[in-house]
Amino acid sequence: MDRTRVIATAAAYPEQVITNDDLAKIVDTSDEWITQRTGIKERRISAGENTSVYVIDVAKKLLDRASVAAEDIDLIIVASVTADYGTPSLACMVQKEIGAVNAIAFDIVAACSGFMYALTTADKYIKSGTYRNAIVIGGETLSKIVDWTDRSTCVLFGDGAGGAYVEESKDAGLIREIIGSAGESYEILTEGYTNCANAFNDLQDYTDPKWYVYMNGREVFKFATKKVIKSLKELLEAEGLTGEDIKYFVPHQANIRIVEVIAKKLDIPFEKFYMNMERFGNTSSASIPIALNELNEKGLLERGDRIVLAGFGGGMTWGTVLIEW
Ligand code: COA
Repeated sequence: MDRTRVIATAAAYPEQVITNDDLAKIVDTSDEWITQRTGIKERRISAGENTSVYVIDVAKKLLDRASVAAEDIDLIIVASVTADYGTPSLACMVQKEIGAVNAIAFDIVAACSGFMYALTTADKYIKSGTYRNAIVIGGETLSKIVDWTDRSTCVLFGDGAGGAYVEESKDAGLIREIIGSAGESYEILTEGYTNCANAFNDLQDYTDPKWYVYMNGREVFKFATKKVIKSLKELLEAEGLTGEDIKYFVPHQANIRIVEVIAKKLDIPFEKFYMNMERFGNTSSASIPIALNELNEKGLLERGDRIVLAGFGGGMTWGTVLIEW
């Protein structure tokens, strides 16, 4: 059976590093609190570049690394909750900048599970024979929708983008996925609300506080551990695998304590979970592809290795994907 194989990975992020101590200068927090509660030490924050800058950079690197001509790209999917525009999509902006004139391009909104949704959507197009290849990217500038006076959220997030070029393959590739949505819980994690005040109705308040990230941290923590544990269990069982058969788990980089709970509950060695949240914070849809690219660039993945990507986030959504490298 044809599979969808990751041929190249790439990442791009701001140069500006903001440490926990930097944040302690603007809100009542400390390096100790942030490190202990989240595992995050620093994050990259845009100095003014919008999301498209990082996403386009990733797309260019992918073409280069995969040695593919832009005209040969069939599909571009970008996952983001912080696109530059309502329309055009980031994917269409990528299409223009790289000259992928024969591709179709669209964005997906699934917050921190976005890359999982985008990757498995590309997989469906490729497995069905509709398209042969795709560029799949997760990218965010969360700094533009974070309330920098709210210490309970502003310390958690960072900016950046990561992605993969994937194509049809006879051997390795995506093996199984478990994707889910729980819209009934959407209110525990929101951002980017635009209200419907308008000049015609003579309403004066055009900015809504719900524009900024709102999160019920404890509920999100419970949701994340529950869904990731369940989906990982189901995924491994369905393939007759155990944690020992997996070289790396690449979880969404939200909080080290969430990963500790997952590792403990599933009795998987903590060292098998690849993490870089201490350097990037939570970059939402970009977190898994940035981490995956690090694994790849460090040469830690070999052909035939099994890895599992596991995302969870706003919506609420989750997605767990088993890949044979
Ligand atoms: N610095 C110092 N103190 C802070 C703080 C900060 N940055 N943020 C919150 N606090 C305080 C709170 O005000 C509270 O004080 P109080 O007890 O006097 O009221 C105390 O710390 C505990 O807050 P709480 O929210 O209960 O902490 P927590 O242990 O639940 O940790 C999170 C908060 C956000 C780190 C944690 O809930 C979490 O990681 N949740 C999941 C978030 C997530 O994964 N989001 C991404 C999903 S994609």
